[in-house]
Amino acid sequence: MGTKRSPKARANELRRLIQHHDRQYYVENDPEIADFEYDQLLEELTVLEKQHPELATPDSPTARVAGVPLEGFTTVRHAVPMLSLDNTYSADELRQFDARVKKQLAVNSVAYTVELKLDGVGVSLTYENGLLVRGATRGDGEQGDDVTANIRTIRSVPLKLTGEELPGAVEIRGEVFMSRSGFAALNERRVRDGAPAFVNPRNAAAGSLKLLDPKEVQKRPLDAFFYQVVNAFELGIVTQTEAVTVMVGMGVKAGPHLTRCDCIEDVIDACLGRQERRRELDYDIDGMVVKVDSLEMQLQLGATGKSPRWGIAYKFPAESATTVVQDIVVQVGRTGRLTPVALLESVFVSGSTVSRATLHNQDEIDRLDIRIGDTVIIEKGGEVIPKVVKVVKSKRTGRPRRFRMPEECPVCGEPASRPDGEVDLRCESVSCPAQLKRRLEHFASRGAMDIEGLGKALVDQLVDEEMVSDYGDLYSLTRDELAALERMGEKSADNLLSALEGSKERPFDRVLYALGIRHVGSRVASALAEGFPSMTALAAAGAEELAAIDEVGPVIAVSVESFLGAQRNMEVMEKLKVAGVRTEAVRRVPRSGSLEGKRFVLTGELPGMTRTAATEAIEAAGGRVSSSVSPRTDYVVAGSKPGSKERKAKGLGVTIIDEEKLRRLLAG
Ligand code: IVH
Repeated sequence: MGTKRSPKARANELRRLIQHHDRQYYVENDPEIADFEYDQLLEELTVLEKQHPELATPDSPTARVAGVPLEGFTTVRHAVPMLSLDNTYSADELRQFDARVKKQLAVNSVAYTVELKLDGVGVSLTYENGLLVRGATRGDGEQGDDVTANIRTIRSVPLKLTGEELPGAVEIRGEVFMSRSGFAALNERRVRDGAPAFVNPRNAAAGSLKLLDPKEVQKRPLDAFFYQVVNAFELGIVTQTEAVTVMVGMGVKAGPHLTRCDCIEDVIDACLGRQERRRELDYDIDGMVVKVDSLEMQLQLGATGKSPRWGIAYKFPAESATTVVQDIVVQVGRTGRLTPVALLESVFVSGSTVSRATLHNQDEIDRLDIRIGDTVIIEKGGEVIPKVVKVVKSKRTGRPRRFRMPEECPVCGEPASRPDGEVDLRCESVSCPAQLKRRLEHFASRGAMDIEGLGKALVDQLVDEEMVSDYGDLYSLTRDELAALERMGEKSADNLLSALEGSKERPFDRVLYALGIRHVGSRVASALAEGFPSMTALAAAGAEELAAIDEVGPVIAVSVESFLGAQRNMEVMEKLKVAGVRTEAVRRVPRSGSLEGKRFVLTGELPGMTRTAATEAIEAAGGRVSSSVSPRTDYVVAGSKPGSKERKAKGLGVTIIDEEKLRRLLAG
């Protein structure tokens, strides 16, 4: 097979072939060769690149997964903000939109495009000279996460654009999503492995795109559709229809089922038609997007606040179904919250079978007057868990049973209480097994201590057998104890022990998050760990001091104070510490020491990195960051809108540098 040619020529040919077949398979949905033949091409290229490492290129299909897991994502500021669309829910609202557009443009007719509104994660990709150089999430629209390594693993995203004349730079936007079939297969695998199932394809896509290890991301069936060329004008593109055609020409999966309409009535037909047929697609859409086709007109229309005036989303109504409440049970959550849940006669709605619905609390049950045996209408909107919206009173027969929330926790029997000003009942007992189980699951979960193998089933066993009554106990489990558990062999016991050992390496902020302190999510945990880099420092700080941290409000501060103030919790912290879990932040060892002893001050907003990221990078290279400029300061790093610090630096003759120069210094 082509062995006469030079390895370089063959490698190039293989890359071209694989790229072509990737496109046929993942973009065009029209494969030309069997999977087996494709695998052979990929294998040949992999071997060739191994033998001749100098031939490897960044756009090689073998380089979709590159590098090691990341510590975290860097923040990317979008050059052009990623706006969101206003929503409409009816044909009439679409007509009003059309009237507004025409009025502002002072024209009688406007052509529109109608596109699918994919339900996924918004992303923006940059290609330079045809090569994918950056992928970022939408984030808050102004700045998102740099997820380039993860985007590269998506097979339908070309690492290299195709076509004759490629633009120097092009930024395209679209949606990363998971097909329904991919989602079903992923969940099946997870359940088999004892991992929790994802609730819907959107959550699965979002969760996958945020994984720090691209090797893991590659195992997730992610896909992407693109719908916007950001620098279209520069490229001479004049309509949205053309933008989609250009993207398709470059090998990008773009604008699925785009329809161009000459008037709003055709737009309405297109929207309603798709609404009827939405189940025919293998992916979830939550509506349609209507855009003025002419980019010139789009520019003229502009935007208000966060949404453009040239486009609008037509959202499909939430799907509903009628079913019967067979029973109402009470669930105990991780923080001790008691939630009433309706057990329903199974019913198929919005693409999945529903058999439970949350009833939130007693107030909600009373408001809707829901009784056991009632026929109810449930609705599944954007939310994950369906809700009961109405009781069909006309179908009430006999004497349906009223339900009252219990006064005790249904699991441990301790009295439940309703804290002042809250609607929820809580079980306050720290040793409630139900809470303990949920807490341990959280402690072991991916974003927390990431203890592989410690899933729901095993947690249930450990608590039921009274082998574990707090986090600390996990670390004194022995091989024999574990191997004696049902469905647990010596091999799994060893795996778990090594996973537990590995979890001792998690940084302090992850440990803090893992503790499951009420209101302390991963962001707050990072902020707390930054301000108070040890458990002792945190415990010594009062609520007021804690609340002085940016991300920490008074409610969080009180919650942390009371958690660390409890004698029982401090005993657990001690156990963790003795076990070797990190109860304080580790100062990073300077990597190259290129900035050893240098003093920096940061001011203004840096375009491509957050202050925290800049500080970490400087400290990692041996430098120090302080908050005020003095004659001993070596560099002031000034971003946009620098404040008085820059003026002071000028006065003192301190060197002022920008982000780019900082990056160069960091690179040594
Ligand atoms: S255009 C100015 N087109 O829906 C906004 N968005 O609220 C440009 N979305 O953030 C977006 N499918 O993440 C556009 N065909 C489509 C879309 C789409 C899904 C998402 C996107 C956006 C949100 C709008």
